[in-house]
Amino acid sequence: MSAKTPRVRTLMEEFTLNNSQLAEVSRRFLNEINRGLCAQTHDNADVKCFPTYVQDLPTGEEVGKYLALDLGGTNFRVLLVTLKAHHEVDMESKIFAIPKEIMTGPGVQLFDHIAECLYTFMKEQNLVDEHLHLGFTFSFPCQQLGLTKGILVRWTKGFNCAGVENEDVVLLLKDALKRRQVDISVVAILNDTTGTLMSCAHRNKHCKIGVIIGTGCNACYLERVENVDLYDGPSDKSHVIINTEFGAFGESGMLDFVRSEYDRFVDQASMNPGRQIYEKMISGMYMGEIVRLALLKAIDKKLIFTDSGRKPQRLQIVGSFETKFVSDIESDPNGDFTNCRAILAGLGIRNATDDDCSDVRYICECVSKRAAHLVACGLAMLINKIDEPFVTVGVDGTVYRLHPKFKGYMFEKMRQLVKPGIEFDLMLSEDGSGRGAALVAATVAV
Ligand code: GLC
Repeated sequence: MSAKTPRVRTLMEEFTLNNSQLAEVSRRFLNEINRGLCAQTHDNADVKCFPTYVQDLPTGEEVGKYLALDLGGTNFRVLLVTLKAHHEVDMESKIFAIPKEIMTGPGVQLFDHIAECLYTFMKEQNLVDEHLHLGFTFSFPCQQLGLTKGILVRWTKGFNCAGVENEDVVLLLKDALKRRQVDISVVAILNDTTGTLMSCAHRNKHCKIGVIIGTGCNACYLERVENVDLYDGPSDKSHVIINTEFGAFGESGMLDFVRSEYDRFVDQASMNPGRQIYEKMISGMYMGEIVRLALLKAIDKKLIFTDSGRKPQRLQIVGSFETKFVSDIESDPNGDFTNCRAILAGLGIRNATDDDCSDVRYICECVSKRAAHLVACGLAMLINKIDEPFVTVGVDGTVYRLHPKFKGYMFEKMRQLVKPGIEFDLMLSEDGSGRGAALVAATVAV
């Protein structure tokens, strides 16, 4: 990885975090996790560590037919999941759009839309007359008060529907289903990280952590109940899944020593300034924007596109440099700039030189590599905390799936940060949000 222009290298220097900085991030992170778990410090902790009420990992022998809703990632989906024992699963699903005005409109409208989509799917699948159980993957910070009670603490990832924060989202969903006369039982609400952990644990008994690196970034893990002050479940269970909501790490300034001016800008321009600081340095909702701001800075300092005369106009538009572009540019073989040139052309930059392209690629690499290293800090911290000889991490999310190097960057750094004597691996989750919702539903359905 190299930039053609030494001054571009200098510009991007602050994105390279050395191991002592990363170890310090991990140390602060662990402290925050412990503060989230502890009753006295929970309210002021950045990382809330919500107990989920999911305590039994699947055996692989679950059976039954379940509906699932998946809200909070790139797409909204309705799924029909058939668990067939022997670790086998069949799935039918349909993606529905959530228009921008619904994402930021009244909550009632959002839940009516969800009920309508569910009804459409049930009709298409001839399920209207079956009374099925449904698992609701709702990927936002919720304080769970039971398997079917989740209070939305706050919206993240560009959603902002009025009247939902501080309310029980299961109740809001049930009310909407009643209005649409859809006869199904909502038997569980879960986070997408929980779904990912469950779906990987269905196949692999070493899986103890679920992580999403997609539109947002978050992880859950299996914790011993004696470490969870807020645990109020049955006394015969030894473990509970904790939804860490670790995307919020940094809200009280603990990441300021590694944040750049671009991170601060992205945060200030977002719908939730001051919130989700760690997530904003990593996830797909923000990565392209960080690159865009760094590119603008390089243009401003006359380090790149110096031949093109005038400033590229499209690049001035917020969101014009999509996170997908970062993956595509880094997918070009070394020295080949086919994707890079096509993307730049789409942004109205037509006469980029090879050196410009190398520099654009270098800027992308610095941003995506830093993101992968920061995720590695969080995961290494959790693996070290679990402290078992072998841990599998279930992973999902568009950034992880689409970026050609992310997994490699992340794994390599985790290796350096995980304690000697502990082995780990990363397992791609097969449709965790749907499969996981069905698996949680299966543990409670009678
Ligand atoms: C955001 C949400 C969290 C979710 C993550 C990944 O961080 O707050 O609940 O798990 O995005 O989708």
